[in-house]
Amino acid sequence: MRVRPLPVRRLGDRLRQLGQDVRFATGRLRGRRPSPTIARPVRSHRGEPRPSRSIQPRPVEVVRVVRETPDAVSLYLREAGGAPLAFRPGQFLSFDVETGGRVHRRAYSLAHAAVPGREAHVTIKRVEGGKVSNHLNDHAAVGMRLRVLGPSGSFTLDETAEHLVLVAGGSGITPIASIAETALLAHPASRVTLIYGNRSEADIIFRERLARLADEHPERFRLAHVLEAGATDATAATAGRLDGPTLMARLEALTHADDAGTRYYVCGPSGMMDAVRTALVAAGVPTGRIREERFARPEERTSVGPELGAQRVTLRVDGRELELVTDGDTLLEAGLAAGATMPFSCAMGGCAACRVKVVEGQVVMEEPNCLTAEERAEGYVLACVGRAASPCVVEVEG
Ligand code: FES
Repeated sequence: MRVRPLPVRRLGDRLRQLGQDVRFATGRLRGRRPSPTIARPVRSHRGEPRPSRSIQPRPVEVVRVVRETPDAVSLYLREAGGAPLAFRPGQFLSFDVETGGRVHRRAYSLAHAAVPGREAHVTIKRVEGGKVSNHLNDHAAVGMRLRVLGPSGSFTLDETAEHLVLVAGGSGITPIASIAETALLAHPASRVTLIYGNRSEADIIFRERLARLADEHPERFRLAHVLEAGATDATAATAGRLDGPTLMARLEALTHADDAGTRYYVCGPSGMMDAVRTALVAAGVPTGRIREERFARPEERTSVGPELGAQRVTLRVDGRELELVTDGDTLLEAGLAAGATMPFSCAMGGCAACRVKVVEGQVVMEEPNCLTAEERAEGYVLACVGRAASPCVVEVEG
């Protein structure tokens, strides 16, 4: 008979758990008051999410598949039970997709207008080496079941804006299209200018949809394409890369004048976003009127976890203190497993719904994430991607 050795990691977990249980039991025998809660650590994992007792994505069904370009596919979705998918234009869903024997969590923006009667869909562009984007581009089919969290995110339409200047590159058009179309359909006093950059004409996602919007709203919607290759009179596009100078030249050609009622939304590759931000700030646009949505490639994300070991965390929540022992799990996973009420939405560092304050100790986070420099300076972390690296006291603000 062959004996399968117990994995070292699992043996370590068990010994550590045994030590905690013994310390807990001997504390009771000596008459010491036990901690209000001692949470058993959920088993550790590396990098990608795995099924959690408390973070439970819900099922959605693919009801239609539309090939937008050779490299991008739209998945039309229906909630189990058929309820409409309520969201704010610009928000995204977190998808848990199993491929290669592992569950991978990815964010895809809802691309339709947030008005009644529009079918919910996300549009996924193939990425070189992308496990999930390539899997869905190759295998998505009607009837496929996917599991999602959200909608999440604060890159959403400002309904008070008089003029929306939208700047998109490649698949960055997905939240931008939702914002543009919602504004045109549901906010008749607003105007929309969209500058959209792509490598070539074949890469333009929603080309016909955008052209139709321009035809239907000639007084309110101005659209300019920028193409790195193949710009001709027929494509009515500007040749070149969508960078700061190109953006400013296009805005000038469209006789755009900045004013306090204008809001800028930028989404696309990080190089484009940096260049656009620099150009807008140099032109005197206050940063408070610039909104950005950055997509991080999974391979650019840092992962932290099991190497941090078991750490004691005091969680201040709902006016009480819970004593937890984490073991490489996120603060969110450990807190939920202990029965704490903890807000969250995307569970992947993209929305800040799970923001908590570290009062003592050190918490490390997967990067990049959406926490601002100001929030970091004030001691905030994101519980869904934050793990204790030392004994900690953490406050969940109500
Ligand atoms: S739940 Fe969205 S950032 Fe943590």
